[in-house]
Amino acid sequence: MGRMRTLSLNLRPAQPEDAPLLHGLFRQSPGYFTLIGMEPPSLEDVVQDLLTLEKDPRRRAFLLLLGVEAVGYLDYKLHYPEPADATLSLLLIREDHQGQGLGRRALAHLMDHLAGAERLYAVVYGNNPRAKRFFQAQGFRHVKDGGPALSWYVRELT
Ligand SMILES: CC(C)(COP(=O)(O)OP(=O)(O)OC[C@H]1O[C@@H](n2cnc3c(N)ncnc32)[C@H](O)[C@@H]1OP(=O)(O)O)[C@@H](O)C(=O)NCCC(=O)NCCS
Repeated sequence: MGRMRTLSLNLRPAQPEDAPLLHGLFRQSPGYFTLIGMEPPSLEDVVQDLLTLEKDPRRRAFLLLLGVEAVGYLDYKLHYPEPADATLSLLLIREDHQGQGLGRRALAHLMDHLAGAERLYAVVYGNNPRAKRFFQAQGFRHVKDGGPALSWYVRELT
């Protein structure tokens, strides 16, 4: 644990060429997909998602690197739902690296770099009590449930 904490956590924009890497990350995180009741995306789905992302200038996707290793992924949208907002649609830490403080570090990193945004929303899919606890522990409050399988959280950015 001490050794890992000394490695810096970096965010690198995810590009279509990263599809195999990202697909591997999803495959190594089966628990999340079980939780939300979905099959992990196929490689082709991941390629398509990354291509779609590139077409929307407000959407940003990053691989989280710990040293040279890809340990997570995050995907957010700027100026959404309102111009002064940003919305985190997915933060995923690779299953074998969860519970080591990386989610918290990734979120802190993201919030540091959201220059100009006044608040950050986080959308949690499915029955995901761990994610809800996680966001609440990071200073988010619950805003609303958008139907049975979708919860919105928000925190102000300083
Ligand atoms: C939810 C998620 C992003 C949290 O990231 P994480 O890296 O596992 O979370 P952290 O380690 O930062 O914090 C989680 C727990 O570890 C603890 N922790 C933090 N630093 C720690 C450390 N150095 N050593 C051990 N435990 C630590 C935290 O106190 C926290 O405790 P909790 O169990 O009471 O919540 C991650 O579990 C994940 O990817 N889940 C699947 C995808 C998902 O559900 N995403 C959210 C919806 S978008």
